[in-house]
Amino acid sequence: MDLYEHEAKQLFGEHDVPLAQRQLAGTPEQAALSATRLGPRVVVKAQVKTGGRGKAGGVKVAEGPEDAAAKAEQILGMDIKGHTVHRVLVEEASDIAEEYYFSLLLDRANRTFLSICSAEGGMDIEEVARTRPDAVVRTPVDPAQGLDRHTAWRICEQAGLPSDTHPRISTVLMRLWQVACEEDALLVEVNPLARTTDGHIIALDGKVTLDDNAAFRHPERTPFHDNGDADPLEVRAKEKGLNYVKLDGEVGIIGNGAGLVMSTLDVVAYAGEARGGVKPANFLDIGGGASAEVMADGLEIILGDPAVRSVFVNVFGGITACDAVANGIVQALELLEQRGDDVSKPLVVRLDGNNAELGRQILEERAHPAVRRVDTMDGAAAQAAELAAAK
Ligand SMILES: Nc1ncnc2c1ncn2[C@@H]1O[C@H](COP(=O)(O)OP(=O)(O)O)[C@@H](O)[C@H]1O
Ligand SMILES: [Mg+2]
Repeated sequence: MDLYEHEAKQLFGEHDVPLAQRQLAGTPEQAALSATRLGPRVVVKAQVKTGGRGKAGGVKVAEGPEDAAAKAEQILGMDIKGHTVHRVLVEEASDIAEEYYFSLLLDRANRTFLSICSAEGGMDIEEVARTRPDAVVRTPVDPAQGLDRHTAWRICEQAGLPSDTHPRISTVLMRLWQVACEEDALLVEVNPLARTTDGHIIALDGKVTLDDNAAFRHPERTPFHDNGDADPLEVRAKEKGLNYVKLDGEVGIIGNGAGLVMSTLDVVAYAGEARGGVKPANFLDIGGGASAEVMADGLEIILGDPAVRSVFVNVFGGITACDAVANGIVQALELLEQRGDDVSKPLVVRLDGNNAELGRQILEERAHPAVRRVDTMDGAAAQAAELAAAK
C-alpha cells in the first residue's frame, strides 16, 4: 500500500526523522487557518499518491493565510496524473540551501535492501540518474545487519554530501532504516532531504510503500487504508476475502488455485488474439474450498463488471471434488437470480480432476441456460473468447 505524503511523514515523525511543522487541510479556509498557525510563509502541497506534484503545479508557496487559501483553492480538485486532489498539506516553508535524495527499497533480485543516495536530489532526480548515473550511489543494506552508523557514514561520503552534514545525515539515514524495518516498508523515499540555510536537515517530502503481506503485524496502521483510488470491484472482492485483480479485457475468469488461474489467463489471451483481440477481464482465484457461497461471491463480482461479456470457470477438482463445485456453480447462479442479479452472461465451465464425470453430469441435468460445458481447457478458452467477441 502506498501512503500519502502526510501519512509517510507521520511515520517519519514517530521514528524521530526531522520534519517541518505541517497540517492537513481539506478546504481553502482550513488552509488559511493552518497558515496562520504555521508562520508567514508556507508551502501548500497536493496530497495524491503519485510523484511529480511540484512539476504538475501541485506544490505552491504561499505568503500568509489569504494567499494560502488562494493556493489551496487552485490545488484542491486538480487532476495530477489521473489522481484528484482532495486534501492539501500546509507546511512551514523552509529556506533550502541544498536538496539531497535518499531512498531504501527492497531489492528482491538480490535478496537484500538497497539504499540509493545522491547529493543532487530534488525534482530532477530522474534526469540526473539517466544522464549522470555516477551522481547516484547505490549501496546494498544487509537486512540482518541493518543500516548502522558505519554504513550510513559511507553512503554520505560516497554520495559526496558535504562533510559537515555527515553526522546529522547519517543519524537521519539510520532512522529512515528504522522506518523501513519496523514498519515493514518496501520503499522509503525522501526527495528532497533538504539542508536549510541555517544548517538543519529536514525530510521535505516522503514516499512510503508498506508491505501488504505484513499488514497483520500493524493493526495500528489500519487508518492508512483508503480505497478512494482503488478499483471498486477490487475493494468489494477484498471485503469478501477474494484474491481478485481487475484487468482490462472482456472474459471474466474464475479458477481454483493461483497457478491454474494464471495459466487460464494465458490460454484466454492466446485464444482471444485470433478473435478480435479479446482479453481476460480479471484474475480471480477462489482457492481450494470453492463452496457455493465463495463461487456466488466470485460470480457476483465478475458479473458486476460491465466490461465482462463472457465468463470462463476453470476448476480442477481436488479435495473439493468436481460434483461439489458443479453444485456450487448452479447454487451460486440460483442465489444470484434470487437476489435479482443479472445472470444472463454466458458461462463456459470446464471441470476436470476428482469426480469430473459426476460434476459434468450435474451441470447437464441442471441445464442452466447461461452455462455451457466444455471439457478441455483450450476448448473452453476458445469458446469463452468467441462468446466475448461475438457480443
Ligand atoms: N516545506 C517546504 N519548504 C520549501 N520548499 C519545499 C517544501 N516542500 C517542498 N518544497 C519544494 O517543492 C519541491 C517539490 O515538492 P515535493 O514534496 O518533493 O513534491 P514532488 O516530489 O511530488 O514534486 C521540492 O523539491 C522542494 O524544492
Ligand atoms: Mg519530492
